Amino acid sequence: MRNERRDIVRDHDFDGIQEFDNQLPRWWVGTFVLTILLGLFWWTARYTFGTEPTIREIHAQEWAALMKLQDEKGGKPPTDEEVLAAKEDPEAMADGKKTFETTCFACHGKLGEGKIGPNLTDAYWIHGGQPSQIATTIFKGVPEKGMPTWRGVLSADKIKHAAAYVVSLKGSNPPGAKEPQGTPEP
Ligand code: HEC
Repeated sequence: MRNERRDIVRDHDFDGIQEFDNQLPRWWVGTFVLTILLGLFWWTARYTFGTEPTIREIHAQEWAALMKLQDEKGGKPPTDEEVLAAKEDPEAMADGKKTFETTCFACHGKLGEGKIGPNLTDAYWIHGGQPSQIATTIFKGVPEKGMPTWRGVLSADKIKHAAAYVVSLKGSNPPGAKEPQGTPEP
């Protein structure tokens, strides 16, 4: 019976290509039905009963885990005391100045007077002017505003030294300073 049905050529042709009228292989139909059933199962589990996390939830969980791992590996931004201690250490300051003049100057100006990035010598701060706040801005960056994240790019020490150097620029009043941005801090 099965053999009689096999290999009957259908009467249409596409540019000379003809096809048999055979049934689809059972394994193929089986997998096809299985995908539909699995799709139904996951859809109702995720969106009707909520017993399984949705793709977005899985993504959020994995993202949080990644951020936590980065925090553990990348350390934390330095505290006020750590930045201020570095400011009293000439070697650390020389290192901070070097980082600033090779890495930060393109956006903040050689003297911190500001270019694309804000003036770092005035009393106005967008993200806070406390030493630890400055260090945190350098550490985390403000990627959506064009300030890169330096965590993982510069070592924890280099970030601390750069922050100390930025703190030391306060009130230096360089020529060509950019107009203030943010809120004034004493
Ligand atoms: C590609 C350009 C770019 C580079 C390179 C860059 N910055 Fe920035 N930076 C910015 C921009 C733009 C902002 C302003 C972010 C905003 O508007 O929120 C900023 C903000 C800051 C702030 C906060 C200012 C405030 O008012 O709160 C500090 C501190 C800072 N940068 C330090 C640094 C240091 C230190 C480096 C070098 C390690 C550096 N930046 C390198 C573009 C840059």
